[in-house]
Amino acid sequence: MTSRAPHTPVLIDEVIGALAIQPGDTVVDGTFGAGGYTRSMLAVGAGRVIGFDRDPDAIANGRSLVPDAVESGRLTLVEERFSQMDRVLADRGIGLVDGIALDIGVSSMQLDRAERGFSFQADGPLDMRMGQSGPTAAEFLNQADEAEIARVLRQYGEEPRARTIARAIVAGRPIERTAELAAIVRRAVGYRAGQKSDPATRTFQAIRIHINAELDELEEGLEAAERSLKPGGRLAVVTFHSLEDRIVKRFLRERSGGTPAGSRHRPVLADPNEPTFERVAKPVSPSERELAANPRSRSARLRSAVRGTAPARKSTGERK
Ligand SMILES: C[S@@+](CC[C@H](N)C(=O)[O-])C[C@H]1O[C@@H](n2cnc3c(N)ncnc32)[C@H](O)[C@@H]1O
Repeated sequence: MTSRAPHTPVLIDEVIGALAIQPGDTVVDGTFGAGGYTRSMLAVGAGRVIGFDRDPDAIANGRSLVPDAVESGRLTLVEERFSQMDRVLADRGIGLVDGIALDIGVSSMQLDRAERGFSFQADGPLDMRMGQSGPTAAEFLNQADEAEIARVLRQYGEEPRARTIARAIVAGRPIERTAELAAIVRRAVGYRAGQKSDPATRTFQAIRIHINAELDELEEGLEAAERSLKPGGRLAVVTFHSLEDRIVKRFLRERSGGTPAGSRHRPVLADPNEPTFERVAKPVSPSERELAANPRSRSARLRSAVRGTAPARKSTGERK
């Protein structure tokens, strides 16, 4: 590991504030990463933290990052997806918890290691998997048909030139390296050196979200959090782009009794479910000071709420 911090935690004071941790509380850090949130949770008095990450490297590094807490039993590290948290908590006899934080997306450690294949700025194998299972980005791009690749670029990258890029990818196969993919995208849509944003940004984001089923994970993770929090427990979720933020916003609106706007053709039906969350806070963005210190925090947004007493709703279970 390099001497610089492996990942600068984003909106950390705001997340810790939203969790309102009391001495002895049991808290879940659903996205352990480099342990930035976990360290603060322990520092403000959490009695026990359960840190989840689907990335085996994050879990392996975590043990050395916070050795005292692991040794004393205050920190339990689990290599698992956060959508599985309620099952893991039950299996380990932990039960309902006082707070849950999710910090969605990739860590700087993942982005900065070329061999993980997340970055178009450093050449590496086209992998992009956070965990170790499932197809790599190269396998997907070399096997999927053009329409499927275009759908992924449009849906998860909001890429207006999805069809053009998908055609260029299919024509350029096989593709094995991140630099090859970045060059194909730049050639396909035209890129001038010094242009404000690299056209490969959206393509890389889209493929990463698809390979890791990140939006499905977020939806299922929110439902798992609803099942895992005790009444009065706090949920804090940080997202990095509008696709993710929309999911969290919609979930908290629905679960707190808000109803979607109706129309003449689509009247609003009364929601028969009792609200499971209350005190939904206004979204929070990084301060000027944080933006200056950590430009990667630019698009971060925190949403938080407090768990009510109503039973968790049935999972939509659309996936799996
Ligand atoms: C933005 S980083 C978290 C950084 C952390 N808050 C810190 O301060 O160091 C996101 C982490 O979440 C992990 N991750 C993403 N999706 C996940 C999921 N569905 N389940 C578990 N971990 C996930 C990634 O592997 C990555 O390590």
